[in-house]
Amino acid sequence: MGQPILIAPSILSADFARLADEVAAVERAGADFLHIDVMDGHFVPNLTVGPPIVEALKKVTKLPLDVHLMITNADAFIPEFAAAGADYLTVHVEACPHLHRTIQLIKEHGVKAGVTLNPATSISLLQEILTDVDLVLIMSVNPGFGGQKFIPSVLNKIAATRVILDRIKSSALLEVDGGVKIDNAPQIIAAGATVLVAGSAIFSNRDYAGTIAAMRAAGTTAATSVPQASAHR
Ligand code: DX5
Ligand code: ZN
Repeated sequence: MGQPILIAPSILSADFARLADEVAAVERAGADFLHIDVMDGHFVPNLTVGPPIVEALKKVTKLPLDVHLMITNADAFIPEFAAAGADYLTVHVEACPHLHRTIQLIKEHGVKAGVTLNPATSISLLQEILTDVDLVLIMSVNPGFGGQKFIPSVLNKIAATRVILDRIKSSALLEVDGGVKIDNAPQIIAAGATVLVAGSAIFSNRDYAGTIAAMRAAGTTAATSVPQASAHR
């Protein structure tokens, strides 16, 4: 048996005017993590939320807070996000020139450390840091917006990352973010992902529990009906 499939709704597509209700609804619906997208209008062309929202959400949910930092100066904000209650802090290799220092800083604050790559960035950039991280996030859209289309070539990258993680016997979570839907979840899981982030797929359909269950069940489909899944392991 591989690792369980975890579902991480991204609040980017939630109704922000009713954020606590939305979070309670996905928690009741069986979510495993709450994915919080932090954007600075600089690394990515959009602005979202900061530490006060993380702190507010920490008070209303038991879900682990999976905070995806799409910001250029992560080091300056890591202490604040840690104090706010982030359980995972994931940084972009493209935005962190001193990545080792940044990962250590996250861990020094008692938070699990994640690293992520844009679609056009090679996984070779992760080679020297993989043994230090708790989570690897493969972006399957260019970050900045919810509701974009999954980039299919990223499937190869997920599979290649799975091979490397298995080779070094890493138990890091392998998360995929962007354009994840019920339809493509089996392929993404077959390629080796263990955490699926989904914003629009979950929040655009009133049946949050149905969508989350269907995505999780895609793991079973992937394990039984996609032959190349075993070849990646
Ligand atoms: C994109 C964000 C994603 C986004 C995913 O920059 O990192 O987490 O919310 O949204 P969907 O699932 O709609 O592609
Ligand atoms: Zn994200």
